Amino acid sequence: MAILGNKISEVSDSELEFEMDVLEGLLKSPKTLPSKYFYDKKGDALFVQIMNMPEYYLTDCEMEIFQRQSGAIAKAMDMPINGFDLIELGAGDGSKTVHLLQTLLTTHQFSYRPVDISSNALNQLSDALQDQLPELTVDGLIGDYFQVLEELKSSTRPKVFLFLGSNIGNLEDEQAAALIHKIASTMKEGDKILMGVDLKKDPSIILPAYNDAAGITRAFNLNLLERINRELGADFDSSKFEHTPEYDEGVGVAKSYLTSLEDQEVELTDISITFKKGEKIHTEISRKYDATTVQNIINGAQLTIRANFNDSRNYFTDFLIEKL
Ligand code: AVJ
Repeated sequence: MAILGNKISEVSDSELEFEMDVLEGLLKSPKTLPSKYFYDKKGDALFVQIMNMPEYYLTDCEMEIFQRQSGAIAKAMDMPINGFDLIELGAGDGSKTVHLLQTLLTTHQFSYRPVDISSNALNQLSDALQDQLPELTVDGLIGDYFQVLEELKSSTRPKVFLFLGSNIGNLEDEQAAALIHKIASTMKEGDKILMGVDLKKDPSIILPAYNDAAGITRAFNLNLLERINRELGADFDSSKFEHTPEYDEGVGVAKSYLTSLEDQEVELTDISITFKKGEKIHTEISRKYDATTVQNIINGAQLTIRANFNDSRNYFTDFLIEKL
C-alpha cells in the first residue's frame, strides 16, 4: 500500500520505487532519470532493434570476438576441468555466450548460471540453450545483481563472471567500482571476470551509435517519458521533447538527454514539474574505456587484468580479470 499525494492505491514495491526515483530525478536540478527504467516491454523491443541497427557497432564487435576467439578465451580462463560456475550478469538472449559455451563443453564440466530478475526471461534463455546445446547444464539465478551476489558469497565453487555488452558503461565509475568490488567479494583466488567494454575512439564512430538515422534510439529515449505516462499517469507530451545525445571525448562518455522544446509544465502524481525551453533531462551515460579506466575501477579489489580480446577494428574489447 502506498500513499502519495491524495492517491491511495495498492502498488508493488517496484512501482513505488519507480515513482520515487522519477520524482527525485525530475525535482533535481539539472534533471535526471535513471537509465535502468528504459527496459519495459516496449524498451526491451526497441533495444533489440538498437542492437541490430548498422550504427550500433558494439554488438557486432563482441559477437565477432566470441565467434573468432572463444578458443583463446576458454584457454586463458584456465579453469578446473572438473567443475566451475560460469555466471552471466545480464545474459539477454545468450547469442554471444553460446559460442563460448560450445567451446567450453568440449573440455570442461561447468554450470552456466545466467542471472536475471525475471524468471520468465531465464526460462526462455534456458529453453533456447537446451535446443542448441543439449548437454549444457543451465542453472539460472533469479534476482537483482546485489541479491544474487550476496547469495553467491557462500558458494565455494570456482567462478567465472561474464559481464558483457559494455553494460557496465551505464554506471558512473564510482558505481562501477562498487559493483566490481561486490563481485570480487564473492571470488576466490584464480576466479575470473570476463568484462566486455566499448573502447574510447573517434566521436564520429560513437555518436551515430546513439543517434541513428532511423530514429530508433530517439524512440528508445522518449519511451522513458511514455512509460512514466503509462505507469505513473503523468501527462508528458513526447512530441515536445527531443533526443539530444552528446559525446564528451575528454572523459570518454556518451550522454543521452531529452531536451524540452518549449517552456512547459508536466503533471506527475499531483506534482507539477516545470521545464524551460532547452532544459535537459539527463537519461543515460554510456562510458567508453581504455586499460587505465578499467584499472581505476578494479583498483583495491585484489583483481588484475590478465588478457584482453579485441575485435578486428579495435572498437571493443573483453578484459579477462583475475582474483589474486
Ligand atoms: C546496454 C548499456 C550497453 O549504453 O550502449 C544503447 C544501452 N542505450 N543505446 C549502451 C544503449 C542507447 C547500451 N548498453
